[in-house]
This record gives sequence, structure tokens and C-alpha cells, in this order.
Amino acid sequence: MSDDKKHWYDGLFYDLLIAPNQDRVFAQVKEMLPEGATILDIGCGTGRLASQLFDKCGKIVIIDPSERNIRVARRKFVNVPSEKMAVGRMDAFEFLATNDFHFDFITMSYVVHEIQEEDRDLLLRAASTVADRIILVDYLVPQPRNYCGVLNQLVEYAAGPEHYRNFRSFTRNGGITSLLKGLHMKMVHELKNRPCSSHIVVVEGKRGRDGACEAFPPARERGMRLPATP
Ligand SMILES: C[S@@+](CC[C@H](N)C(=O)[O-])C[C@H]1O[C@@H](n2cnc3c(N)ncnc32)[C@H](O)[C@@H]1O
Repeated sequence: MSDDKKHWYDGLFYDLLIAPNQDRVFAQVKEMLPEGATILDIGCGTGRLASQLFDKCGKIVIIDPSERNIRVARRKFVNVPSEKMAVGRMDAFEFLATNDFHFDFITMSYVVHEIQEEDRDLLLRAASTVADRIILVDYLVPQPRNYCGVLNQLVEYAAGPEHYRNFRSFTRNGGITSLLKGLHMKMVHELKNRPCSSHIVVVEGKRGRDGACEAFPPARERGMRLPATP
């Protein structure tokens, strides 16, 4: 587990050149959410998904360990009331272990493929103990053998050796679908994009049920405690 995530492309470069490519899928995530939902966006990057969801949600907490990404995200939400939103520079594992809360939804957009293989189970299980539903956006596996598949490979390669290693192990191991099967987590909805290189997967959380991750105490419904802003 890394608490010092940084990439050469983090910050403004990501916000201006990479994140906008996800706007369409972010709009689809927004459509799936009910009005007034409470949301934790893990690995929020520069806050582009949160910008889309903001009007529709009741409360939103966004976290990311990358200092440059969070700096850009903070600038976007500088005038937003703290009762509605919190932006924290924090690793997901740290956040999930040290906070006691409940969210209607956790969103993770293009985060799971970047997590080390041995930590992916832990992340999903921990997330499932604090939310009713988890919405995952990530690469579809197998990747299509077309322009999109090749482009994704190149982008992931350019992200750096550690990132590429994690992406490769993610695809080799069957991506989100296999991960969920191994964890006996129920996929309640799936939306594949066109031309089919990513998908949105909605997963049922295990909050309050047996099977909560041993590493994390089951979250109790005590309202939301916002992350301290470092
Ligand atoms: C590919 S970016 C996606 C950013 C954003 N969700 C989006 O879709 O535009 C992956 C993000 O996950 C974050 N990340 C990586 N490891 C993480 C962890 N352990 N906890 C929380 N976020 C993490 C990275 O810092 C990065 O901002």
C-alpha cells in the first residue's frame, strides 16, 4: 500500500489532457445516482468526477494521495461549504481504516487497475463495509483488439513501470469481474461503453453483514465524519 502516490502526469496535465476523456462515462455514473446520495470518491484525481456529481449529491468526500492532484481538486471546490464537501489528501487504506462512517455510494474511477495486485481485494472489501453500493469504472478485460485497446496499452505504459505492472496484472487476472467473483461480491449492474474498452460496474456493499473485512472494523452508522484537511 502506497501513501505517497505520484505520477509525472499528476496535477494540471492530468486535469487538462487526460481526465476530460472520461466526461462521458462520468455523466453515465451521474445518471445512475439518486438525488441527494452521500458519496465517497476514492482516488478522485483532480476532482473531475466530483465536479459532475456535486449538484446531484447530498454530501461528497473526495480523497487521493497525490498532492498535485489534490491541489488542483481543492482549487475547484474552494467556495463549497464544508457541510457538503470535503477534499482530503489521503490514501484509501488509511482513510477506510481510520474513519467510521457510512456512504450511500463509493465511486472509484480508474483506480483499481492501478492498485497493487495484493491490495485490490483488501480495498474492495474495506470499501464494501462502509457503503451500500460501490461504483467502479475501469478497463474492460479482455481489452478489445482495436484502436482503443492499443491506445489504452500505450497510455498505461507511458504512466510508468509500476503503473504498467499493475495494469498488466489487472488484465492478466481478469479485471473487475474476476476480482468480484473471487470476493463473492455481487455485481448488480454493468454498463459497457462503446467501443467497449471500459465498463461501469455497480457492486452491492456488505455493510453490516458478515464478511466485513477483518482488517477494518465494520463501520457504524454515525453520520459522516469528514476527513481532516491536511
Ligand atoms: C488513473 S487516476 C484516476 C483519477 C480519477 N478517478 C479519474 O477517473 O479521472 C487514479 C487515481 O487513483 C489514485 N490512487 C492510487 N492509489 C490510491 C490509493 N491507494 N488510495 C486512493 N487513491 C489512490 C491516484 O493518485 C490517481 O489520482
